[in-house]
Amino acid sequence: MEPFDVIIIGSGVAALTAAYRLCSEKKVLIFTKSRVMESNSYLAQGGIAVAINEGDDWVAHADDTLVAGSFYNHIDNVNKLTSEGKRYITMLIENGMNFDRNATGQFDLGREGGHLRRRILHAGGDKTGKALTTFLYHQLKDKVNIVEHEMVIDLLMHGHQCVGVITKRKNGEVTYHYSAATIIATGGCGELYTYTSNARTVTGDGMAMAYRAGAILTDMEFIQFHPTLLYKDQSVIGLVSEAVRGEGAFLQNSKGERIMEGVHHLQDLAPRDIVARTIFTELEKGETVFLNIAHVRDFPSRFPTIYQMCVENGIDLAKNLLPVVPGAHFMMGGIRADAYGRTSVSGLYAVGEVACTGVHGANRIASNSLLEGIVFGNQTAEGLLNENLSIPSTCFEPKLPVGKRTPPNLPTKEEIKRQMTTFAGIVRNGDGLHALLTWIQQFDFLHTDWRNLTFKEIEITNMLTVSWLIAKSSLERKESMGSHYRSDFPVSVMAKKREEVVRQIYQDQNVLVRGTV
Ligand code: SIN
Repeated sequence: MEPFDVIIIGSGVAALTAAYRLCSEKKVLIFTKSRVMESNSYLAQGGIAVAINEGDDWVAHADDTLVAGSFYNHIDNVNKLTSEGKRYITMLIENGMNFDRNATGQFDLGREGGHLRRRILHAGGDKTGKALTTFLYHQLKDKVNIVEHEMVIDLLMHGHQCVGVITKRKNGEVTYHYSAATIIATGGCGELYTYTSNARTVTGDGMAMAYRAGAILTDMEFIQFHPTLLYKDQSVIGLVSEAVRGEGAFLQNSKGERIMEGVHHLQDLAPRDIVARTIFTELEKGETVFLNIAHVRDFPSRFPTIYQMCVENGIDLAKNLLPVVPGAHFMMGGIRADAYGRTSVSGLYAVGEVACTGVHGANRIASNSLLEGIVFGNQTAEGLLNENLSIPSTCFEPKLPVGKRTPPNLPTKEEIKRQMTTFAGIVRNGDGLHALLTWIQQFDFLHTDWRNLTFKEIEITNMLTVSWLIAKSSLERKESMGSHYRSDFPVSVMAKKREEVVRQIYQDQNVLVRGTV
């Protein structure tokens, strides 16, 4: 098999951005286990946070990002995200990407949780992810090899160096593909939970294969639950963007009480972890929670996807009440990576949600994830363009994983989701996490020879691996912080200290930081 300069696993915004930036100089191959247009990026509704408006500035955006992230963020990477964001978004716009504008031709900026200002660019109302991934795809589709329906089942390792990927097709055929650099951009792991906003393909594959290859993963306990997933007949139908609350919707219970009143000064636009926990508490009391959209102007045209979803699922819009539950949305942790996507394994890069650069801290602020894909997708590509990539020799035989040839006893996906939701969900505790670990450890997920497994069985072993990492990390962190809330440990006293230290750093750099925890 002819070697490539760069192999990219995944097809969301981070993957497509990196591929586009690389493709004029490097030979790039993208693998996606489903279709290019099946990703979390494609589903993204809200938009892209960027300090593009006159009167806004990247420091204010950085500050909101830090406050939402409990000041656990990597400051340099936050600064890079928020300051470089404007440059990369401007490049996109100059290349032809359209964002919604108002009657006077200005960007129609939205507001979402945690942001003190309107700074969310959106496209097609609530179809931002679809518009962006479609735009990027059309830019690169003739320049990059894109292979759909072929699953990367493991990284190809030569000693401690990643030299490509091992893939499997639906017909069972296994192939080795060599590359000088391999970028994991497979997104997070929302499918580990019963309720999720994620695409069904998001099973933590990238994190699991990086772990098997010996890469460092970090902050795996920080999983964000989006407060508002549309809920009917005991199941989740889809996401109701936080932008709806940005346009005046609010949360209430069945008695008509506004549940965010008195909880946080930003009320319904408080950071997501706080809103999700408040809803969770209501639901635990046996309450029903609704998003009241009575005050949202032009709901059908501003939010066409959500409107359509409600109509198709028989939600009575005349009542202006959308039943909602929180659900898994975003992984703040992941494969440890620097601003150029470099991981702890030579030849291996990670970008987007699968990577942990520390930008999101303990809780991602709304609409920073597409921005992350664009900024760090570009940065990773730029880093690689400056590297002297040497294509490995294909002469050596890859060291194949040692494992059992017979499929192990595996749980169903639904069983994993139930366990994770119960014991590693919005509120966790030590006893539950121990029970979860014991349950996971009965399965032989780390010693499996995936070559004999189906796509689904491989996904299940990956889901078990990532669940195990989440359970272990959640047990290790004996404090509550951001999205990691342990009922047996109080909110960390370190949070205040961290805020003081971060503010001092900014002051020393002579930039003013506003906002409060
Ligand atoms: C939303 O539209 O509420 C989701 C956007 C995001 O996760 O940043």
